[in-house]
Order: sequence, then C-alpha cells, then structure tokens
Amino acid sequence: MSAIEVRGLRRSYGQREVLHGLDFDVEPGEVFALLGPNGAGKTTTVEILEGYRERDGGRVTVLGEDPGVAGTGFRARIGIVLQSSAVYPSLTVSETLELFAGYYPRPRDPGEVVRLVGLEEERDARVRILSGGQLRRLDLGLALVGDPELLFLDEPTTGFDPAARRRAWDTILGLRELGKTVLLTTHYMEEAQRLADRLAILRDGRLVATGTPQELLSANGTVEIRFRRGGEDVVLRTDEPTRVLHELTREALAAGDELDELEVRRPTLEDVYLELTREEGT
Ligand SMILES: Nc1ncnc2c1ncn2[C@@H]1O[C@H](COP(=O)(O)OP(=O)(O)OP(=O)(O)O)[C@@H](O)[C@H]1O
Ligand SMILES: [Mg+2]
Repeated sequence: MSAIEVRGLRRSYGQREVLHGLDFDVEPGEVFALLGPNGAGKTTTVEILEGYRERDGGRVTVLGEDPGVAGTGFRARIGIVLQSSAVYPSLTVSETLELFAGYYPRPRDPGEVVRLVGLEEERDARVRILSGGQLRRLDLGLALVGDPELLFLDEPTTGFDPAARRRAWDTILGLRELGKTVLLTTHYMEEAQRLADRLAILRDGRLVATGTPQELLSANGTVEIRFRRGGEDVVLRTDEPTRVLHELTREALAAGDELDELEVRRPTLEDVYLELTREEGT
C-alpha cells in the first residue's frame, strides 16, 4: 500500500479553483519532492494531506486513512513543518521541543533533536529572539521530535545558511535510512536532486511531470551545443549530441576553422524545471 495516494484532488478558494485534479502516489520509505512556482498549489496540497485544509473533490489516503476525518492516532504518525511556523514565542527552544514531544507516544529525546538541527547554543533561548533561520531549524526539530513514520516538510530549509542546509539534508537522508517517508516542497533544485527519490512538478494546480530526477532529465534532456562563429553566439539543441558534434567538428576541420568557445552542456534539473513551468508566451 502506498503511504500517500492522491486521486483527482481538487480545491477552490471562493470561485477560483487552484488544484485541478491531482493524481500521485508516494511509496513507503521514499523521499518525494513537490516542486512548482509560487502559488502553484504546493502548500494547499500538503496541508490537505496533513488534514489542515479541506478538499473540494477527489480521494486522498494518507497512511491508509482519509486525513479529512482522521483523528489523533493519525496525528501521532505524522510530523509536520508548516510553511509558516506556529510556535510559542515565550518558550525556550528546549521547552518547545519538550512540549511537542509530549504529544507523541514514542518521541525522540529532545536533547538529541536540538543537536540534529544545530541549536545547541540556543537551547535555553526564548523562541522570540531566534533569527529567521534558527526558527526554521526549530520547525524542522518539531517535525522530528515525535519520531513519526511520515513527514511533511513544506520548504523546510528556506532561510537556512549553506552549512545548516547541508546538515538538514543529512538529517533527511538519515530519516530515509530509517525507513521514514518524506514529502517535501522546495524551491532549491539542488535540494530536490540530492534528496528526492521521485519528484512531481506542479504548475497552476496541475502536475506537469512526475518521475525520478533522472527520468525527468532524460525525458527533457535536450543537449545544448554552443560556440561562436563570425562574432555571433550559436546555440544548437539536440537529442543526438554525438552525431551533431561530429558533423560540426568535421566541417570545421575541413574548413580549417576553430569552433570558438565550444561547449556541450546537459540540462540541469533547474533547466528542466524552468522549461516545464514556463508561462505561456514567454
Ligand atoms: N487561504 C487562502 N485563501 C484564498 N486563496 C488562497 C489561500 N491559500 C492559498 N490561496 C491561493 O491558492 C494558490 C496556491 O497557493 P499555495 O499556497 O498552495 O501555493 P504554493 O505552491 O505553496 O506557493 P509558494 O511557493 O509561494 O509557497 C495561490 O494562488 C494562492 O493565492
Ligand atoms: Mg507554499
């Protein structure tokens, strides 16, 4: 059974439909990344799966239950990083983690979680005085402290400094090694590439691609060949780079020309993402 099953998911705000019928599955033990531009519908989707927002249509199953009606047993099995954090400003970091640990049947040691997210020095600081990135690290800690089987991480590393991001990546990969399932959203393509077993790209409330990072790269993997000729940049895109390059270099050699600044470049996940989410007419 899939950890998450989504079929024909729809959601409107007022008259405006923002999810137009999504279908996807997340398998147990997999890290699944939901990507898409601002306003594409990621948070709406994730919060419906968490049971925080209602849906208008479609079928959703999370750990075998409908999150729209599931009770406290369900809540104890999931961990959440909301896009905007909801913590008490007057508690300290340790107190906050201990409070949340108390909501779960088999929590992790809050002291260990403090170390996992790198807040050792802020342990006794009140949440109010934390920097943006420190607060975000606490949010990640709150998702971890219940030791849940399924984690929803909505932009978990936004505002992290590079070292903190690497550490968070290690933590998330560690969760996968423990067999946990993770659904995350991110605007960092490197993060998606590093962490995701599979990913889905959402655009205006519709999924435009789903697959492993490698599948998305191969399916959209037109190779770019660039060089300069007569003072002008030439850019060729091809699915047959070997043949095109061979012809180019053969002609150049025959003519005694140099292909100035010759470059062969494979698209990155970011290139593929930008191509798939491009607005019409741009
Ligand atoms: N409570 C709400 N009331 C009305 N419209 C909303 C509400 N929440 C979200 N929307 C709209 O729904 C659309 C999807 O929003 P959502 O927050 O799901 O996007 P997102 O993909 O998470 O974007 P971001 O990358 O900026 O976090 C947006 O157009 C947004 O304006
Ligand atoms: Mg969002």
